[in-house]
Amino acid sequence: NKEEIILAIETSCDETAMAIVKNGRELVANVVASQIESHKRFGGVVPEIASRHHIEQITVVLDETLAEANMTMDDIDAIAVTEGPGLVGALLIGVTAAKSLAFAHQKPLIGVHHIAGHIYANRLLQEFSFPLLSLVVSGGHTELILMKDHGQFEVIGETRDDAAGEAYDKVAKTLGLPYPGGPYIDKLAQQGKDTFHFTRALLNEESYDFSFSGLKTAVMNTMHNAKQKGEQLSSEDIAASFQQSVIDVLVEKTFRATREYKVKQLIVAGGVSANKGLRKRLEEKFANEEVELVIPPLHLCTDNAAMIGAAGSIAFQQGHRAELDLNANPGLSL
Ligand code: KG4
Ligand code: ZN
Repeated sequence: NKEEIILAIETSCDETAMAIVKNGRELVANVVASQIESHKRFGGVVPEIASRHHIEQITVVLDETLAEANMTMDDIDAIAVTEGPGLVGALLIGVTAAKSLAFAHQKPLIGVHHIAGHIYANRLLQEFSFPLLSLVVSGGHTELILMKDHGQFEVIGETRDDAAGEAYDKVAKTLGLPYPGGPYIDKLAQQGKDTFHFTRALLNEESYDFSFSGLKTAVMNTMHNAKQKGEQLSSEDIAASFQQSVIDVLVEKTFRATREYKVKQLIVAGGVSANKGLRKRLEEKFANEEVELVIPPLHLCTDNAAMIGAAGSIAFQQGHRAELDLNANPGLSL
């Protein structure tokens, strides 16, 4: 009945994050060093800058995490790290740190898929009951994933082009908003109305796939045409119309899938699940359904290491171990 203490490391993009998770479900420490300010002036994440920041921050974040938990490396049972997908240089810093710690302190090492992490963030709130459906909406991914058991991921639908978060960030850029644009559009959208009725791509198709690049182009064309005519469009209405289109498709397809696969839970995951409009619509849509809706608190929606610890714990219990030749894998599949 010994407690299981996992130190988790996440460096796949622009957050240097570490966490300590107890028994897979209890968050003991959670530190996220964000680099957003350094990337803002470039309008997106610059991989080289991300890697340098991770190198500067990684040992600082480790010390902070252990201090927050009031622990030393002696208390740690295993080390979990994001091995992919993500920026290769950024991933490498986390993977190298994890391997060094595992070697120096003789601890087992576990490689974790970043999206498995986003999904398992929800297990810090609520025990999973299978079958469950996960809607994963992040900067790099938009997927509907069916899980019949722990550690088993079946992708039943995914984006054919841009990820939802990517569309948010691109539309935000067109509106002259800072990076990352999702939260800014979300805020503007609260003050606007869906006056443009942009396309709802693939909504009436049977597949669970998504497409957001046509929507992004529609928004850009609308703004371009207005500019040529010297018209002033309401940014609030553009944001609201764009957001409504994204949410309509995400919520409707997700709803259909929960019915078809008769799932017990709907687990929402990834940075875009921080979106207020999406959260509200999901809560309304599933209020009278038997499906249990689980959405993480905001700080567990965007990248963090707590989620890697939660996913790592299950992998650890299932006997998965990585060796010291573990490598960063930017294109890792689930
Ligand atoms: O999961 P995440 O932190 O990193 C990836 O793994 O991609 O997701 C980042 C994405 C960005 O595209 C960001 O704009 C989006 O999540 N995002 C949001 C909101 N907060 C973050 N999108 C819409 N509304 C939000 N409130
Ligand atoms: Zn992520």
